[in-house]
Amino acid sequence: MTTEYFTAVSLDGYVADPDGGMDWLSGFPPTAAKRDRFERFFAGVGAMAMGATTYRWVLAHEKPEAWRRHYGDTPCWVFTHHDLPVPPGADVRFVSGDVAAAHDAMRAVTTPSAPTVWLVGGGVLAARFAAAGRLDRVHLGVAPVVLGGGAPVLPVRTGPLRLARVDQDGAFVFLTYEVPDRLG
Ligand SMILES: NC(=O)c1ccc[n+]([C@@H]2O[C@H](COP(=O)([O-])OP(=O)(O)OC[C@H]3O[C@@H](n4cnc5c(N)ncnc54)[C@H](OP(=O)(O)O)[C@@H]3O)[C@@H](O)[C@H]2O)c1
Repeated sequence: MTTEYFTAVSLDGYVADPDGGMDWLSGFPPTAAKRDRFERFFAGVGAMAMGATTYRWVLAHEKPEAWRRHYGDTPCWVFTHHDLPVPPGADVRFVSGDVAAAHDAMRAVTTPSAPTVWLVGGGVLAARFAAAGRLDRVHLGVAPVVLGGGAPVLPVRTGPLRLARVDQDGAFVFLTYEVPDRLG
């Protein structure tokens, strides 16, 4: 069982622009290779987690029926202090506070064929997992775009991560890092 943060990021390390927007990615229609990479990853996902800002972005920008098309019945823990709606048929579980307790619940629903907890993002939530020692791997699809500001990919201080893999797909570089047991 591993917990993996898989996200697109700008060259200067942001997952969203200063207005929370994602338009900077729309200039790069997904290639077959990029889709395959994500589908291979998602096939191993048994549970997923989002911060409230990311979840609100998904609710605002995707049609409600798209949730099941994208994520099927994979359970998604949403970290929030607020009451938020749930798309039809989505298995969304709202939690707040300690990430370790919620992470234990996520791990409990993973299976040998779907052993991965996917941290969808954003950076604030992924950083809380990292700080709690609950992040094993980071996959970054680096877009050739400089945003100059926005939502940072992982706003926490770490020691060196281990670079496990580098791939090129067209204009993107895909980087996989492993997080050592002890950070900082
Ligand atoms: N490039 C990509 O592929 C990608 C991937 C993911 C996200 N994004 C974008 O990144 C942006 C958001 O990133 P972000 O890092 O600012 O925010 P985020 O991690 O998505 O959400 C942070 C919010 O989640 C809630 N939260 C986090 N931890 C919590 C806890 N332990 N208990 C209760 N609530 C908790 C709080 O919201 P409340 O207090 O309001 O409930 C907090 O302000 C969005 O615009 C999103 O679309 C991009």
